[in-house]
Amino acid sequence: MLENQKKDSYKIAWLPGDGIGIEVLEATKIVLDKVKLNAELIHGDIGWEFWKTEGDALPQRTVDLLKNVDAAMFGAITSKPVKTAEEELVIELKGRGLIYRSPIVRMRQMFDLYTCLRPCKSYPGNPLNYKENIDLVVFRENTEDLYSGVEFNPVPQELVDILSKISKPFSAFSSLQTDEFAVSCKINTKRGSEKIIKAAFEFARKHNRKKVTIVHKANVVRATDGLFLDVAKEVAKNYPDIIFDEANVDAITMWLLKNPYNYDVLVAPNLYGDIISDLCAQMVGGLGFGCSGNIGERLAVFEPTHGSAPKYAGMYKVNPIATILAAKMMLDWLGETEKAQLIENATAAVIKEGKTRTYDMGGNASTLEIAEEIAKKI
Ligand code: NAI
Ligand code: MG
Repeated sequence: MLENQKKDSYKIAWLPGDGIGIEVLEATKIVLDKVKLNAELIHGDIGWEFWKTEGDALPQRTVDLLKNVDAAMFGAITSKPVKTAEEELVIELKGRGLIYRSPIVRMRQMFDLYTCLRPCKSYPGNPLNYKENIDLVVFRENTEDLYSGVEFNPVPQELVDILSKISKPFSAFSSLQTDEFAVSCKINTKRGSEKIIKAAFEFARKHNRKKVTIVHKANVVRATDGLFLDVAKEVAKNYPDIIFDEANVDAITMWLLKNPYNYDVLVAPNLYGDIISDLCAQMVGGLGFGCSGNIGERLAVFEPTHGSAPKYAGMYKVNPIATILAAKMMLDWLGETEKAQLIENATAAVIKEGKTRTYDMGGNASTLEIAEEIAKKI
C-alpha cells in the first residue's frame, strides 16, 4: 500500500500545470537529476490553459499517460474562478456542455487515489517553524465526503420531494423555491473509510508511530462521521500496539495549536483532513513546505499543497522546498528510500544553514538557486 516495488527504471508523468507550478517542478528536476533516478519524465498537459483552449483541464491524453506511469509529479493549477450556477448554466446552454470540475479532484477520483498523505515536519533552523520538533502526519480521505461532487443548486424538484417525504428537519425548507437553497452531499462509504483508516494504522506501525487520532464530528454529523468513527474503532482492534485516539474536528484545531506534541498520526474524512492539514502545514513553515501525496493502489501523484500563485508566476521567487519534499515522498513510495533520504538530508541541511532562502523565509534567493544548493549537498 503506501509503497511500491522498487524497479530498475521508472516512467513518471511530469505535470507542471500553471503559474509557479512550472517553476517549482523545474527546480525539483535539478534535485531529482542529482540522485540519478533511472526515470523517464514524461510531460503531461493539465490546468487552466487546457480548459481555455480545449474545454478540458485534464485532457484525455493526460489521463492515458497516467494509466501508463509508475507515479506522477504535479506542480499546481489555476482553477476556474467560481461562477454562479446561472452562469454555468448559460455556458451549458450555449451548447458546449462544459462544466468545470477541478482536474485534481477528478484525478483523485478517477484513479482512486484514496489517500492524501501530508507529513508536517519542522526542520531545524526554519525561521517559519511555529514550534521546534513538530513531526505530524495527516491522512486525509481523498475521494469521498463533501468532495464527492454530488451537489445541487438549484435543487431538482424530485430531490425536494424525496427529502420532504423522508426528512423531518427538511420540511422547514420544502416550501422554498428550488433556487433558494443548495444541497451538497457528504457521502462516506464503509469501504472508503476503512481503506484510509487502515492506511494510517499501517503507516503508524511501519514507522514506529505511537498514536493514531481519528478526526470527526460524530456527535453532530451522526450518519457519515458516525460511520467513519465506527469503522475506525473496528480497524483499531487489529492494531493493539498503537494508541487509538479520537477528537472532534473543531476542538482539535485548538489542541493542535496548544500542544502539537500530543499528536502523531491523524486521519480524517476529506474536508476535515483538508483543513487540519493546512493548519499543520502552517506550523512547519506554511505553503513553501506543505508537501503531499495522492496515493492509490497502483498510482500515486505527488504535489506541493499550494496553488499556482499567479502574482508570482514567472518570477522564480517562490519556495520550491514543498515540491522537492513531495519528490522525496515519491521516491519513498517507489521504494527508493535511500535516494529519498539523500534529498531530505540535503534539504534539511540547506534549511539549517540558512544562507540560501526564498522570500518567504526572509531571503532573496531564487527558486532555482534553492534547488541548486540542495543538489550541491547531495
Ligand atoms: P496559492 O497557494 O497559489 O498562493 C497563495 C499565496 O501563498 C501566494 O500568493 C504566495 O504569497 C504564497 N505561496 C504559495 N506558494 C508558495 C511558495 N511555494 N513559496 C512561497 N510562497 C508561496 O493560492 P491562491 O493564490 O489562493 O490560488 C491561486 C490559484 O491556485 C487559484 O486558481 C487556486 O484555485 C489554485 N489552487 C490550486 C491548487 C493546486 O493546484 N493544488 C491548490 C490551491 C489553490
Ligand atoms: Mg487545501
